[in-house]
Amino acid sequence: MTTIAVTAEAPGETRCAISPETVKKLVGLGCTVRIEAGTGLRSRFSDEVLKAQGATIAATASEALAGADILLKVRRPSLDEINALTKGAMVIAMLDPYSDRAGLDAMAATGASAFSMEFMPRITRAQSMDVLSSQANLAGYKAVVDAASMFEQAVPMMMTAAGTVPACKAFIMGVGVAGLQAIATARRLGAIVSATDVRPATKEQVASLGAKFIAVEDDEFKQAQTAAGYAKPMSPEYQKKQAELVASHIKIQDIVITTALIPGRPAPRLITKEMVASMKPGAVIVDLAAERGGNCELTETGKVVEIGGVRISGPLNLAGTVPVNASSLYAKNVFNFLETMFDKKEKTLKINWDDEVIKGTLVAKDGAVVHQSLAPKAA
Ligand code: NAI
Repeated sequence: MTTIAVTAEAPGETRCAISPETVKKLVGLGCTVRIEAGTGLRSRFSDEVLKAQGATIAATASEALAGADILLKVRRPSLDEINALTKGAMVIAMLDPYSDRAGLDAMAATGASAFSMEFMPRITRAQSMDVLSSQANLAGYKAVVDAASMFEQAVPMMMTAAGTVPACKAFIMGVGVAGLQAIATARRLGAIVSATDVRPATKEQVASLGAKFIAVEDDEFKQAQTAAGYAKPMSPEYQKKQAELVASHIKIQDIVITTALIPGRPAPRLITKEMVASMKPGAVIVDLAAERGGNCELTETGKVVEIGGVRISGPLNLAGTVPVNASSLYAKNVFNFLETMFDKKEKTLKINWDDEVIKGTLVAKDGAVVHQSLAPKAA
């Protein structure tokens, strides 16, 4: 029988790696699920509810971990946690594999097989395991809700006997998963929405959500999407043309949500301090790229700053501010991934190490870091 341990996250992380639904499903796969008491509390999953679905509640983390075969976490677990597992156990989490290399090497040295959910290949079969999408979608929603609450005016147009309240203008920069949800949410609140991106595929997506597409559509734009579906870094010439377009558009916006990212690079700078200075007092910018340096020059990570009457928010872990949904979706992503590793008839672990989703996410195995993107770069 496979024993799965789930322990509480560090105090700053509100999410957890298990939900009542996934406890039930894991028990259905023949697993024992041991959860440290209180792990789900901030996601409103009480120990009683988890227990009712078949989990064993352990009084302490060490009790949950002792001799377990698999550890499920949201963030990278500590070495002590990994060392408490059975030798060569599996660890599944958002390992943030590009940071703290020494810690990653130490983790590999424990001999555990470590899987990083952020590395899930973006293929159709793996959509239900894609944590970047499930969390970015919630972040895009919450960015708009937070912006609407910081914006001390109404969002929809209201025609009343006392006069008309104009509709707020919202501009979404970067139309990936977060940006698309931000457009949809802003539209539902009644804003007049426009959006920009450098990938041509987004033009139709923006239009289909009822928003206006704004972009420099030159030859470079036509080539801006990589085979993996991501944006390429744009040339200085393109950036200049883009900045001119943005400068004239942003002046009249009330809410701006920025989500632009390029894999493995700092976030592109799309809003300069001059652009912020041109905005109306009371306007709000929520910069979802804050964690990667920010799309706005004036963003301060983890803070809200007010400059010339414009509020700029650089939130960290926005998905974690809707932990009930974020944990439910994350836990489901993890379950869908784990399910691929089980022989459902025999109810035992049977990992196909050649499976694309296994190979794509496997970061460490047999004492070494094995992922190609983490191999030392040739001189
Ligand atoms: P992301 O978080 O890497 O970037 C967000 C957005 O910023 C992207 O749309 C990107 O084009 C845009 N961007 C980058 N540089 C920019 C610039 N200078 N100016 C304006 N915008 C800029 O992207 P995300 O959300 O992870 O999605 C990327 C792609 O992957 C999308 O096409 C999405 O549909 C696709 N996808 C595929 C999945 C699957 O097949 N399993 C799952 C999830 C996403």
